[in-house]
Amino acid sequence: MEDLERDLLKFKGFYFQHKAFDTGFLENLDDFEIRDDDVFIVTYPKSGTIWCQQILSLIYFREHRKRTENVETSYRVPFLEYCSRHIDFGKTPSPRLFVTHLPYYLVPRGLKDKKAKIIYVYRNPKDVMCSYFHYLNTYPIFKAADSIEAFMKQYLEGKVLGSLWFDHIRGWYKHRNYFNIQFMMYEEMKKDLRSSVLKLSKFLSKDLSEETMDDVVRQASFENMKDDPLANNENMLYRHVGSKLQEGHFLRKGTIGDWKNHMTVEQNERFDMIFQKQMKDFPLQFIWDV
Ligand code: A3P
Repeated sequence: MEDLERDLLKFKGFYFQHKAFDTGFLENLDDFEIRDDDVFIVTYPKSGTIWCQQILSLIYFREHRKRTENVETSYRVPFLEYCSRHIDFGKTPSPRLFVTHLPYYLVPRGLKDKKAKIIYVYRNPKDVMCSYFHYLNTYPIFKAADSIEAFMKQYLEGKVLGSLWFDHIRGWYKHRNYFNIQFMMYEEMKKDLRSSVLKLSKFLSKDLSEETMDDVVRQASFENMKDDPLANNENMLYRHVGSKLQEGHFLRKGTIGDWKNHMTVEQNERFDMIFQKQMKDFPLQFIWDV
């Protein structure tokens, strides 16, 4: 994977996307001023980031729910580490909504003082791996292995944007008491979106009417988002990658257990062995299948 260092940038042990990277911003990120009503989504890539961005945007913006404004979700809930060149976060009105892939140790200091709220969305790492594999082979964001076997090696060595999945989730979980954080599981959202939105709204102290809840759940469905260019990253990827790709692409399947269609029995056993070793005594449960 000798091309990796060319494509990605490693900063304090964590892989960032090279092209979108603002080193100066990252150097000063520790001092980034946090407001009490800021909300951060934190994810490892391919864990349902865009989904949670859409849900938050729908909860906070009536204009979004009622479709009276033509704003992309990725602008309403921008990436902290990748959008500082386009958005002046200091001038963004409160409450500000952010999304980030950062590990716990790189986020602004203010978050560790339990200012602001954090939503950590996680997904079973086999589905994350398969989603990531397809994503990278659809969008040449960085050099990726072109077989599941080779990609599994790359992923399990953490040689991808977001670094090692195990480190990301373990780090955030282990340090959870420093933060005001709510863990959300992709598979639970998938099984019962309404309950997940309710859980989120309680955490955010947002009292949603039945009508609002209906709007959020309907517009955050896979089918709706897949058809909605404001919600499915289509335009963002077009700007970024520079070529038109198949519509609805970023939302590929949105299912639980797709890894079974991609991994061999032997690959799965090998993955399980590594998982058990790495996640020994880790208390959060995972859902691997429907
Ligand atoms: P698949 O590739 O398995 O389909 P991220 O935003 O973190 O990159 O995650 C992308 C993954 O989340 C993709 O997984 C995508 O389809 C899935 N996803 C996005 N919106 C979803 C939704 N509303 N319901 C279910 N899955 C969704």
